[in-house]
Amino acid sequence: MHPARAYAPGKIILFGEHAVVHGQPAIAVPLTAVQAHAEAIPDTFGAGLTVQAPDIGRTLHAAESFDEVADEADPVYNALMFPLELALDALNAPVPDLAITIRSSIPIASGLGSGAALATALIRALTMALGRSLRREKLNELVYEVEKRHHGNPSGIDNTVIVYERPIYFVRKTPPVPFAIGAPFTLVVADTGVNSPTKLTVEDVRRLFEAEPERVGSIFERIGAIACEGRAAIEAGQIAALGPLMNENHALLRQLTVSSPELDDLCAAALKAGASGAKLSGGGRGGNMIALADPAITPAVASALYEAGATSVFVTTVG
Ligand code: MEV
Repeated sequence: MHPARAYAPGKIILFGEHAVVHGQPAIAVPLTAVQAHAEAIPDTFGAGLTVQAPDIGRTLHAAESFDEVADEADPVYNALMFPLELALDALNAPVPDLAITIRSSIPIASGLGSGAALATALIRALTMALGRSLRREKLNELVYEVEKRHHGNPSGIDNTVIVYERPIYFVRKTPPVPFAIGAPFTLVVADTGVNSPTKLTVEDVRRLFEAEPERVGSIFERIGAIACEGRAAIEAGQIAALGPLMNENHALLRQLTVSSPELDDLCAAALKAGASGAKLSGGGRGGNMIALADPAITPAVASALYEAGATSVFVTTVG
């Protein structure tokens, strides 16, 4: 066994969240401004597997098997130990004598892919420490299993963009299509400070679809078309086309009931400060929003977002 370190980025969904669960395309990019880091250190003989998460003050331990400690109802187990259980199973390896410390700057339940990034970093550190490797497709499959624990019915976009670490065009149950960024663009990312589990919003959207299949189905279709138009504009470097698409996508997400007063306020504040588009990103009803802004005005947009109640704001360049 060897000491090993691994990392995984967060993610931003540019267009298509929620509709992607129902088969429409969506596009997403990795977000390296926030990251999960795992460090594995070989432990003494017989020590078993320990995962320490100092950020949340939790330590989990599996002595010889996961049976005694596995608790599907515990979100911390699912986030920190379940990925390792799955990976050891896939590698056909026994519980190792290993201590892993995981740290993350990705806020939890806020639409930036925290769960998928933790699982990716943990599994990468474990496999490296064991001197083994997993194909990217296999790693993606395992992280998807973890996502199912967190979200019930995830599309798979979060784990895929985080594992592949490239901008992707994604349609559920088909291989991801990486795409190129024709010209860089700048996003201001702001957190409402409201935690919102994706599982709940995904379930509510499913119920809405069941109740009104025609109306909601056509919203999904338009969101899918926006994702395609957005991808074409990004590839062609036509950044000016993105703002209106973001605004339309946000309006459609409001119709799906997954926005919130906080998200709407932040989007309005960003637009008033000169952003050319703004939308929620991820599961919604809280978490983060993104605004497209010329780099020259990002300080003004960031101040406006703080004034409108954002709990954290950062600026990131895509491409
Ligand atoms: C969450 O980041 C994105 C959703 O579309 C859910 C999913 O695709 O699994 C809301």
